Parts: sequence; C-alpha cells; structure tokens
Amino acid sequence: MSFDQQNDFPLEWLRHTSPYINTHRGKTFVVWLSDELLDRELFKHLIHDLTLLSHLGIRLVLVHGMRSQIDEALKANNIQTTFANPAGTQGEHAEVRITTSEMLPSVHSVLGNIRSQIESAFSTGLPNTPMSGSRVTLCSGNFVVAKPYGVRDGIDYGHTGEIRKVRTQTINDLLNLGIIVLISPVGYSPTGELFNLHAEDVATQTAIDLTADKLIFLHHQTDELAAALGNTREISVGPHGVQQVLPDELHRLKSVVHNCATACQRGVNRCHIVSSLQDGALLKEIFTRDGSGLLIDSGNYDSIRPATHRDVAGIKALIQPLINDGILLDRSEQDLERKISEFFVAEREGSVIGCASLTRYHTQAEVGCLAVHPDFRASGKATEMLQHLIEEAAAEGCKQLFALSTRSGDWFREQGFVPGDLATVPVDESRLANNRGSKLYVLDLA
Ligand SMILES: CC(C)(COP(=O)(O)OP(=O)(O)OC[C@H]1O[C@@H](n2cnc3c(N)ncnc32)[C@H](O)[C@@H]1OP(=O)(O)O)[C@@H](O)C(=O)NCCC(=O)NCCS
Repeated sequence: MSFDQQNDFPLEWLRHTSPYINTHRGKTFVVWLSDELLDRELFKHLIHDLTLLSHLGIRLVLVHGMRSQIDEALKANNIQTTFANPAGTQGEHAEVRITTSEMLPSVHSVLGNIRSQIESAFSTGLPNTPMSGSRVTLCSGNFVVAKPYGVRDGIDYGHTGEIRKVRTQTINDLLNLGIIVLISPVGYSPTGELFNLHAEDVATQTAIDLTADKLIFLHHQTDELAAALGNTREISVGPHGVQQVLPDELHRLKSVVHNCATACQRGVNRCHIVSSLQDGALLKEIFTRDGSGLLIDSGNYDSIRPATHRDVAGIKALIQPLINDGILLDRSEQDLERKISEFFVAEREGSVIGCASLTRYHTQAEVGCLAVHPDFRASGKATEMLQHLIEEAAAEGCKQLFALSTRSGDWFREQGFVPGDLATVPVDESRLANNRGSKLYVLDLA
C-alpha cells in the first residue's frame, strides 16, 4: 500500500474494535448458516469473515442447513416429499419432513456436497485474498446422537429424528485446538442409522449444551423481522411475547426467534439474528456497538441495566460484606442515592446479583464498586458487566477506563487493563489521601 492510499485505511475503526476483540477472544460462538446462503456469491465473503473470527481466537461452531438442497435433490430424483404437523409442535415447527428410506441416498448426497463445499471454501489461501496465509482447520463428524421422531398421530416420520445428545466433550476438545467445528443437521443413532434433523434445533441445542457465549442465526429474512418488530434492534422477552407479534408467513423466523429465547433462558448469553444477504453483517454485529441485526435475550434473566433508586438497598446488601472486609470503599446508602445515576446492576429474577459504577471525567471514566454476589461468581458475570461499561463509556466518547483496586488487580489485568500511574487520572486529592493502597489499572478504548 502506498502512503497516499493509506488515507482510506480505517485506522479509527480498527482501533475501536480492540475492546471487542479482547472481549470475544476465547468465547464460543455457534453460528447457523441458512441453507439458501450456501449458494450465494456472498458465501465466499462470509467464509473470510468466519476465518477472521477464528484467527481472533473465537471458538467457532458452524451448523449448516440443507432443507432447500434436499428439496431440489428429491425433485431431481422424482421423489415426492411430504411434511406433517404433529400435534404439539405446530407453531414451533410449521412443518416436519417425513424422511423415507427412499430419500436417504438424496440426503447422503446433499450432505456430502455441502460438507465438501464448506471444507473447500475454508481451505483456499490464495495470495492477494483475505484468506492468504490462512491455516484454518475445519472438522465435521458424528457430533450429534439422534433418536427417531417416531410415529405420531399415526404418522411414521421414518428417518426424521430428534437430538438425543450433543457430544460436547469432543467438540470442546477440537475447539481447544483452534479447530472450527462444522455440524450438519443429521444425527446417528447407536444402531448406526442416520436421522434427518431440524438444523435450527441442532444449532440451538449445541449452543445450550456448550453454554455458548453467542448463538447467531444468519437469516435472509431479517428485514421482514425488523419490520414486524417495529425496527427494534434488541428484545428481551420470553418466547410467547415475541411470537405473538410475528405474522404467520414468517413461520420459519418464528421458530428461530423461539429457539433464541429458549437458548437465552437455558444459559446462552446472547442470541443474534443477522442478515445473510448483507456483506459483512456478521462482523458489524460482533465488532460494533450498534450491531447490525437483532439481539435477543431473555427478559427476566440476568439483565444488566442502569440502577434506579429502588436498587439502593440491594446494592448496599451486596457490597456491605466487601466494605467490611476492606475490599471496597465505604459507601453509605445516602452516597449510593446521590450517585445512583453512575451505577449499573446485574439482576436475576428481581434480585441485584452484581453492581458496578462508571464515573465520567471528560475522556476518562472510572470503573468502581464492581461486585458480584458470591453465589454467582466465576460464570463471567463481572466480565459481562465490564463489557457493558466499556460499551457505555465508548458510546459517550470516553477514550480510557481506569480502576483502582487493592485485591483485584489481576482480574482487571486479565480483562486487558494495564498498570498505570495514579498521577494520570482525575481522582480528587481527598480520594488519593484516603487511598487504601489501591493500584491503578487502565484500559485504552481507542
Ligand atoms: C472480582 C469479581 C467482581 C469477579 O466477579 P466474577 O463474576 O466472578 O468474575 P468473572 O466470572 O467474570 O471472572 C472470574 C475469573 O476471575 C478470577 N478472579 C476473581 N476474583 C479475582 C481476583 N481478585 N484476582 C484475580 N482473579 C480473580 C476468578 O478466579 C475467575 O477465574 P477463572 O475463570 O480462571 O476461574 C468478584 O470476585 C467480586 O465481587 N469480588 C469482590 C469485589 C472486588 O474485588 N471488586 C473489584 C474491585 S473494584
């Protein structure tokens, strides 16, 4: 690149991504690739983007769909396909395919084609392309144990199956080696039979069983979804709340939204529905504050939000034992009342289980009073709260976060903070005079 061309280099953008890169490194993302995406020109770009995520240390599990390819293969082989709506699954899955033995060769052939298409896309490494020098290893295999869907309402669903078990240990072992895991929407029973599975369910169950940090659906109907939801970018509701407002013609999306809500309630931090038609939508969702798609989390489960005056008692109860132990600075209820606009709380089922404050000083901001209830520690809650504060601070134009800590310096360092000099931060003299030997840790945001 010549010096004149460097004007186009997105320097500021690249710098702004570093907090996100730090946050996502080592995290597990399950990404569902819709069947119709595989045949698009954009698929090549998506592979570049997924490769980049893997290179940035994100543990990637990909689950591909293959519904439309099976439809085409059956049509080409003159095989009639039948769907049914078993009682109890209507609305969840609008249609379940009856997979007869006659269809199995078509399923096998589609499966082989799609796997090899994805494997070869990840294997390209031509010079002068974003894949140049890439050494990504992709592994597909028998990761899902299935059982037959069986006979329901007198209908035999044949080789249509349900997930019995996701082999998470094996998947984790591969992810730990930096390998991208590719899962197909089929499973095998202990008798060696192949069962055709609902790809969205495979992605969801895999995310739940791995306790993934994100479950991402790349979907072609995100515009319709946004319109149906009044252009909302973020929803925190249980499954029924969302489904009611989606029109019936978006039945496949309804099922995806339902899956997201289930995943959130069963331990997956965040679910996203991102456009499969927009180049770079996945990267934008992951590396920008505003994202590009729809973020879904479960309304009553662990939300992080600005504190209100009603939280004062909960915050006080949470921090008092830590104040008594000299870990946190003393704050009376009156202090908390006065400064409540600086506080954020993590809430679970109506109780404050975590808190943190963000005090702004022009382009710097202090993270303080970070605490997580002992029953909820070591599950990433404080990391999630810190990420929330980083996003808040960055949105307000802050360039640097800092924290003063007596005992949790290592925790801050593991979050990307580095030791700093007290003279460089804007805390007042009395605070420094009362400093209990705290050390300073700073994190540059830009
Ligand atoms: C520090 C604290 C907020 C972390 O909360 P958390 O939700 O458990 O944190 P996370 O789950 O995001 O991170 C947990 C990891 O940090 C480690 N960790 C926790 N406290 C630590 C500390 N004081 N020093 C170094 N590492 C620490 C845990 O061992 C765990 O590591 P592991 O994943 O390798 O087992 C919580 O321990 C707490 O409330 N401590 C008391 C208050 C405090 O010290 N606040 C910071 C000063 S402002």
